[in-house]
Amino acid sequence: MINIVNTVEQVREQVKAWRKEGLTVGLVPTMGFLHEGHKSLIDKAVEENDRVVVSVFVNPTQFGPNEDFESYPRDMEKDAALCEAAGASLIFHPEPSDMYLDGYSTFVDMDTLTKGLCGKTRPIHFRGVCTVVSKLFNIVCPDKAYFGQKDAQQLAVIKHMVRDLNFGLEIVGCPIIREDDGLAKSSRNTYLNADERKAATVLNKALTKGKEAVMSGEKDAAKVKAIITDIIEKEPLAKIDYVEIVDWNNLEAVDSTEGDILTAIAVYIGKTRLIDNFIVEGRN
Ligand code: PAF
Repeated sequence: MINIVNTVEQVREQVKAWRKEGLTVGLVPTMGFLHEGHKSLIDKAVEENDRVVVSVFVNPTQFGPNEDFESYPRDMEKDAALCEAAGASLIFHPEPSDMYLDGYSTFVDMDTLTKGLCGKTRPIHFRGVCTVVSKLFNIVCPDKAYFGQKDAQQLAVIKHMVRDLNFGLEIVGCPIIREDDGLAKSSRNTYLNADERKAATVLNKALTKGKEAVMSGEKDAAKVKAIITDIIEKEPLAKIDYVEIVDWNNLEAVDSTEGDILTAIAVYIGKTRLIDNFIVEGRN
């Protein structure tokens, strides 16, 4: 059975032993309830490192007061089986009280990149993400850490944080993994009932049309946004949080689809907020 440890000291001890043997270490930070998307990150980490640590921690500081921290799905047994089958070496599964000691008061906050897109409706989210990810980097001291492109803003924010704070590791971004009908894999898909699950395919359908327009030469970002918005608005169970086209290098809004662009959307399907995106690089 894969080794599951709960304390910072246990992780440090294990990593120290690996380092003594000259082994490289990869980290896959997760909030658990692992699916094929997480598995693809673990697979990549196993391919590129001698040992892989998967952290499973539903991080309270990245959830707003009315968000789903309490109800976020959890299944440690299934997570352990997936990690073991994928070839991970260790699971770090701390309690909130192990990560945030009594009187905890230090946070990592970013002035740029975190205010738009998901940051608009989730104002404390990226402060919580940057804080917990910094802590995980300090605890595990990995050579490389793996993040999915599905959370594109998170990936950009973490790359920027690593640069700003001189963390000595490489961030590896991994492609979005989708269900057969195109819905991006997400732990939150389990919140959807049967009708909502069908309706949720509208995110990828809309993005696919948007991407087709960009690839066939549409340079006007407003027109691409309109194509995406129109398709989503036709789905009665969907309510748009945002449809944005931004520069993939700094997440600032753009008028043109030239250069490196991230087209990102957040859509409520019933009460469940889903995100998805596509990135197109180097168009001119
Ligand atoms: O992407 C996630 O699951 C979380 O935001 C992360 C990176 C594990 C931090 O809690």
